[in-house]
Amino acid sequence: MQRVRQRQPQAFDRVLSSMCTEPHPRAHEAAVEFLATNPGDPATYQTVADLETDAVDQLGEIAGLDDAYGYVASGGTEANIQAVHAARNLADGAQTTGGDTPNIVAPTSVHFSVTKAAEMLGVELRTVPVDDDYRADLDAVSAAVDDDTLLVIGVAGSTEYGRVDPIPAMTDLAHDADARMHVDASWGGFILPFTDYEWSFADAPIDSMAIDPHKFGQAAVPAGGLLARDRETVDALAVDTPYLETTSQATLTGTRSGAGVAGAVAAMDELWPAGYRQQYHDQQANAEFLAEEFVDRGINVVEPTLPLVTASVSPATFEALRDEEWRIARTADGDLRIVCMPHVSRASLEAFLADLDRVRS
Ligand SMILES: Cc1ncc(COP(=O)(O)O)c(C=O)c1O
Repeated sequence: MQRVRQRQPQAFDRVLSSMCTEPHPRAHEAAVEFLATNPGDPATYQTVADLETDAVDQLGEIAGLDDAYGYVASGGTEANIQAVHAARNLADGAQTTGGDTPNIVAPTSVHFSVTKAAEMLGVELRTVPVDDDYRADLDAVSAAVDDDTLLVIGVAGSTEYGRVDPIPAMTDLAHDADARMHVDASWGGFILPFTDYEWSFADAPIDSMAIDPHKFGQAAVPAGGLLARDRETVDALAVDTPYLETTSQATLTGTRSGAGVAGAVAAMDELWPAGYRQQYHDQQANAEFLAEEFVDRGINVVEPTLPLVTASVSPATFEALRDEEWRIARTADGDLRIVCMPHVSRASLEAFLADLDRVRS
């Protein structure tokens, strides 16, 4: 304990590139209260198991799905892996002809968790280019999909540019090829209900979704969400569990802390929908403010269509800002990337800009 007492976790006021945030105080409280429960063993930890059912129902409401199936995962990575896993198990040879390797199709903007999924599950990941606005190119998706495609993945709120792929059209392409459609709304899921984007189960007949309470949902880590339209998706993931009172388990992890489940329910109870709507408007305004400030300084930006700004600054400037202890990151193309998460205040962006002006080269 001595070593822990000597250290403090980082404060959030200089964290500008994380996709996680400070949990809402109610989520924090609930997470601590349920820390030692295990929704992986629902017959023993009944209360938290019931809360998980509430969490899935609530996530379904946010994502436009009545009667949702799914569970609270450890994060978007697990939800994406399980979406690929379910697609592979459901196809189970029926889909793939002639012994060819089954494939999944996704834009290059897809999160690297999908690379992990493909590698672990022995499927080929076919990444296709994005268009000039960083959204999946439909012609390229169409050209990549074939008889061996199990799953098409669209991103609703991409990690680097906050873009939303053309989900309804991608769903048509997937279903025309008898493949499934998964939407990765891990980051965007708690923002997009307040926009005009078509991204949800209500906008297209998508099969599954990743939507993370521990990102814009303001739950405590670890709280991701896997949602499915049909029970068969979750059933396809289930294995027998001989030594537990329940007979099967669909999660990738076994024991998992109830903190994620309880924190997610508490945050959603507190914030859905008014709190999340306000948060989206505040952070979208922050992103637009920041983008304008960059432009005023002659710095190129990618327009923030969701609360995420990327800007071209020199490597030296980037390093100088890191030296000032700003927690910032770069896109694969080397652009500075700032994610306006709920903890990001206007005052902290102003302090960042003042440092930028001082160190810029
Ligand atoms: C779009 C998207 N999907 C998936 C993930 C992975 O989520 P996690 O780190 O919670 O596993 C991220 C992480 O930032 C993400 O931005």
